[in-house]
Amino acid sequence: MGLKDNLLALFEANKGIYFSGEELASKLNVSRAAVWKAVNNLRGMGYEIDAVPNRGYSLSVNTDILSAQGIKKYLSPECSFLTLDVYNQTESTNSLLRAKAADGAPDGYTVLALSQTAGRGRRGRSFYSPAGTGVYMSILLRPENMLPSQAVRLTTMAAVAACEAIEEISGEKAWIKWVNDIYVDGKKVSGILTEGSFGLENGNMDYVVLGIGFNAELPENGFPDEIASVAGAVFHERLQDGKNRLAAGFLNGFISYYNAGDSADYINKYRRRSLVTGKKIKVLFPEGSRQAVALDVDEECRLAVRFEDGSIEKLSSGEISVRLY
Ligand code: BTN
Repeated sequence: MGLKDNLLALFEANKGIYFSGEELASKLNVSRAAVWKAVNNLRGMGYEIDAVPNRGYSLSVNTDILSAQGIKKYLSPECSFLTLDVYNQTESTNSLLRAKAADGAPDGYTVLALSQTAGRGRRGRSFYSPAGTGVYMSILLRPENMLPSQAVRLTTMAAVAACEAIEEISGEKAWIKWVNDIYVDGKKVSGILTEGSFGLENGNMDYVVLGIGFNAELPENGFPDEIASVAGAVFHERLQDGKNRLAAGFLNGFISYYNAGDSADYINKYRRRSLVTGKKIKVLFPEGSRQAVALDVDEECRLAVRFEDGSIEKLSSGEISVRLY
């Protein structure tokens, strides 16, 4: 870590507290001129750093920019194996992490971005990822002995962890629209994209990239027309450390479910938050759509539905999507 990163770690851990230039220089073992330069670097990145004569510098409590330092102060010890890398901008954190996975990046390597130029969603859709208002994150996992068909469990755990993090921080009830969309107040506030690669010799997953995007706050210029009626934000107002807490809250929950595996009760938690169960839905198959009633979600996260002709089927997430009436 360079001086700027060390200074940010110190500021993030002591938001609102003033340090004199001399104090900072001695804590970081550099000159006061170097501190001053690093302060200005952080300001250039958007950090609000107050400077008051005779008191020194302080990171304003109003600053909420995603950073490894900002997230780490809220992470549980269980997450200590994660390595966080925060990019200012990337095409897609999932794409970037897949490339890094192919190059041998380790289990737990996690990439976040302040914005994505080509954020991706399921079924070839895009995920709107403007700067400053969202949390865009992908986690690389190298599970032992996981079949491709079991990877959907990770999506399920992530959906539950996302809802719990949202509720803990915002106080708003969060729901899951099968299979990977998180809703608050009737609006989609988060989506999950799980991708991976499996080995041909044993048929197990080599790696999984679990990507999640949150619309933490409303984008400055609102959502684009195509998604304006569906998309919403987790927070109605800017919360202190809201985005960093949301990222950490999600990671804490997800990693604890991941480590606990099947002993965690995540499927029942998923079921209790299911937005579609008992409702009339439209199932979109690649070849066309059919009306049905959603009945339940099973242990493998398949959605049991009853079609209009009375037939009951269990749908796997794959290429299927559902719409509520
Ligand atoms: C969906 O809504 O269909 C899933 C959206 C997933 C978006 C996240 S943002 C971080 C990660 N990088 C991507 O390109 N996509 C996922």
